Amino acid sequence: MADTVLSGIRSTGHLHLGNYFGALRNFVRMQHENRCFFFIADYHSLTTHPDPKALHDNVKDILCEYLACGLDPEVATLYVQSDVPETVELYLLLNMHAYLGELSKTVSFKEKARKQPENVNAGLLTYPTLMAADILVHRADKVPVGKDQEQHLELTRRFARRFNGLYGVEYFKEPTAYNFGEELIKIPGLDGSGKMGKSEGNCVYLCDEPKVIQKKVMKALTDQGPTAPNSPKPDYIENLFTLLKVVSTPDTVDYFNDKWNSCEIRYGDLKKQLAADIIAFTTPIRERYLDICNNEEYLHKVTVAGAEKARESASKTVREVREIMGIKPF
Ligand code: TRP
Repeated sequence: MADTVLSGIRSTGHLHLGNYFGALRNFVRMQHENRCFFFIADYHSLTTHPDPKALHDNVKDILCEYLACGLDPEVATLYVQSDVPETVELYLLLNMHAYLGELSKTVSFKEKARKQPENVNAGLLTYPTLMAADILVHRADKVPVGKDQEQHLELTRRFARRFNGLYGVEYFKEPTAYNFGEELIKIPGLDGSGKMGKSEGNCVYLCDEPKVIQKKVMKALTDQGPTAPNSPKPDYIENLFTLLKVVSTPDTVDYFNDKWNSCEIRYGDLKKQLAADIIAFTTPIRERYLDICNNEEYLHKVTVAGAEKARESASKTVREVREIMGIKPF
């Protein structure tokens, strides 16, 4: 049988090229070969107390961007976390076997506690249990996660093992981290750093206006140019070539490589080309995004259908877990 793959994303705003080439593009491909659940983790976003309107808008943006990039709600199960109350019930049940010592030791908790000392809430502490509930509620086999989430996945496995051990059952499977191997392209930032990231402020967003993309690319870090033929490229120049490789034709990449090697490169030309090719790549996505955003009826339909499919799978798990734990009707 096909694997169950599950991915969650916190609703903290628009998606960028790094999200697309890192994971989203692979999700679009995978949805046909696996039983996929893609959800937007709005409860997880609440740990930092976002403004209610911003929270709702962020969920909508990601949902529309997922759809615009080709996640097909007829193929995969696409849902909003808070539309599936079974997750919350499993979260409560799992919390009974999650210990303060292990929860407070996670890197993400310690980091948040340091960053927001005035708001070290219980939701922050039990963030990993909620994430475990997200995963275990569908008994997922594979979870595509970045490095920063591996510790959470390790805890999920531990909770699954512990549950099975305590109740003498083989109920939960231990989900494994999934990285896309060769398919994973790490997209660098425009500031010379190794990674495009929202908090780094170096992103090109999938739905940025062409003018904005143009401006961001033209401001990318460069230098005086190579001083000797065939010299190695410094990281910040390599980054521009990496971006060029994902959005431009091989001919274009070769052209600028040759120019670099012969010390004739003009960064202005390179950036103009890169901006134009990013814009050509993102324009259809942005147009679909805008259409979908304006189609409230479609969004309603998609989220209701997604919740229904997700709840079907989740309610079965919760029913069985309750039973195992001794919660059953008279
Ligand atoms: N914690 C994840 C992140 O910040 C988001 C997330 C929530 C998640 N629940 C999940 C990821 C379940 C994978 C599976 O990126």
